[in-house]
Amino acid sequence: MAVGRRKGAPLQLRIDGHAISAHSGESVLSAVLQNRHTVRHSEFTGEPRAGFCLMSACQDCWMWSAEGKRLRACSTPVSPDLDLYTSPPTRLTGSVPCAKS
Ligand code: FES
Repeated sequence: MAVGRRKGAPLQLRIDGHAISAHSGESVLSAVLQNRHTVRHSEFTGEPRAGFCLMSACQDCWMWSAEGKRLRACSTPVSPDLDLYTSPPTRLTGSVPCAKS
């Protein structure tokens, strides 16, 4: 999986309900940052975040599935069936279920 270069077949995935362009073989983080400036906002300060370590360590790139499953954008490969959100789905209350990695 490439972090910052495009290769592979073009595809689209959905981020916050909007289709974005990507290429197979790249990470969700790479695809998101080629289409927008941030991947999420800090739950502590509200500041925009764009990932930091790019190796699944810093937890700066959390995104959520429609079901509320949390995942790291930097270590998740793109696929056309992805429907992700930059904040927990609003219908979820309390704690957000964490993906086991
Ligand atoms: S950028 Fe650090 S965990 Fe994804």
